[in-house]
Amino acid sequence: GRKSLLIKGAVISDHLTSFQGDMLITDGKIAALAAHIDAGAQACEVIDAEGLVLVPGGIDVHTHFNIDVGIARSCDDFFTGTRSAACGGTTTIVDHMGFGPEGCDLFHQLRVYKAYAKESAVIDYSFHGVIQHIDDAILGQMEAMVHEEGISSFKLYLTYGYKLDDEAAFKALRQLKKVGAITAVHPENDAAISAKREQLISEGKTSAKYHAASRPLECEAEAVARMINLAKLADDAPLYIVHLSNGLGLDYTRIARAAKQSVWVETCPQYLTLDERSYERPDAVKFVLSPPLRNASECDKLWVGLADGSIDTVATDHCAFTTIQKQPGDRDFTQCPNGIPGVELRMPLLFSEGVSKGRIDLPRFVELTSYKPARLFGLYPQKGSLAVGSDADVVLFDPAMKTTITHENLNDNCDYTPFENQACDGWPVLTLSRGAVVAAHGQFTGKAGMGRFLKRKPFSGE
Ligand code: URP
Ligand code: ZN
Ligand code: ZN
Ligand code: ZN
Repeated sequence: GRKSLLIKGAVISDHLTSFQGDMLITDGKIAALAAHIDAGAQACEVIDAEGLVLVPGGIDVHTHFNIDVGIARSCDDFFTGTRSAACGGTTTIVDHMGFGPEGCDLFHQLRVYKAYAKESAVIDYSFHGVIQHIDDAILGQMEAMVHEEGISSFKLYLTYGYKLDDEAAFKALRQLKKVGAITAVHPENDAAISAKREQLISEGKTSAKYHAASRPLECEAEAVARMINLAKLADDAPLYIVHLSNGLGLDYTRIARAAKQSVWVETCPQYLTLDERSYERPDAVKFVLSPPLRNASECDKLWVGLADGSIDTVATDHCAFTTIQKQPGDRDFTQCPNGIPGVELRMPLLFSEGVSKGRIDLPRFVELTSYKPARLFGLYPQKGSLAVGSDADVVLFDPAMKTTITHENLNDNCDYTPFENQACDGWPVLTLSRGAVVAAHGQFTGKAGMGRFLKRKPFSGE
């Protein structure tokens, strides 16, 4: 029969406006939204949400669950990763698939990752395609990936094992635009990183704290600028900069956008709330990720970007390794699997540091965490929307709840959080995925396999 849920008296906000009112959910979809909705004759469960804030469920478009990075496999799979996401108010993830065997086609990793997620994921999910080399066969597979498989974004790397050179990046950008996909890039200058690494090693500077010195922000900013220009040259291909960590890179994207170029920017909570002082700690390995944490002044520049609209999305880059897995990095940063956990804390941290501290308003919070991700990655209006007919993926925040973050209370499969001891003003207290309660007060109430694979629409702008 029809199952209905009525949420009453919340401050309801989408990416445009906020108002106090009620929401009716029927059969997993948003059925009505108004200042007052009566329970009426139909059997209907009612939630009193007076004093709470209701927003669209979070969409985290940058996770790495169950990823094999060669020296280690990340400790969160599609069950523990999406469970953790759900408890933090995120109801959709778009995962960055890892590299497959050398020479594999574009469909290979999609098959592998669909199998990883199928019986495991708690919330709805998709994947970004991964491009590890370019030839005519790969270019020819892009159309079917977009229009048959529903994969309308692809990531390429300018460093790491399967880095693309300029020629390959150019060809990828041009063809992806042609078939209706957006290109996401991990921008870092590989040659500069290699040279810095060699120099540090020759000076015996190999402990974890030197990780940051091996990839200064100019490595990243150079690659951002290069990709912007290549994208322009490649028939004005749409470009998405992942995990931006610094103000110089952001300035390059501002120049491009001022000239109406199709460039979008993502940053992550770690670049907003943590800085390079973490590398002076005895447990510096817990903060080894790429790009590395920067000087605190860069955090401030990113906050300006969030407030002024030059940053589009906040995602996590959740790529969790346990303390034991990170340990080899203690003596040799080149042996530390890169990445940190964070999928559960994106919504709470941005709510607390952003909304509660008055740096961004509620609609902007929704834009950054849900609406823009949905638009850019072909999920709107099924996701990222509170319109009648949209999936009832919603999260209720208690803005008055004060919490101190501790890993003990998190729902991932890691053994630490880099955000330990951070104070949070406001916390997600209820998460609904297609109308079903998947988390309540930090407790997981969902089931493995509830999540569905989302076929995404071709890229169509923001
Ligand atoms: O250090 C990181 N960020 N690891 C995950 C892979 C990536 O570069 O996004
Ligand atoms: Zn087609
Ligand atoms: Zn990356
Ligand atoms: Zn990543």
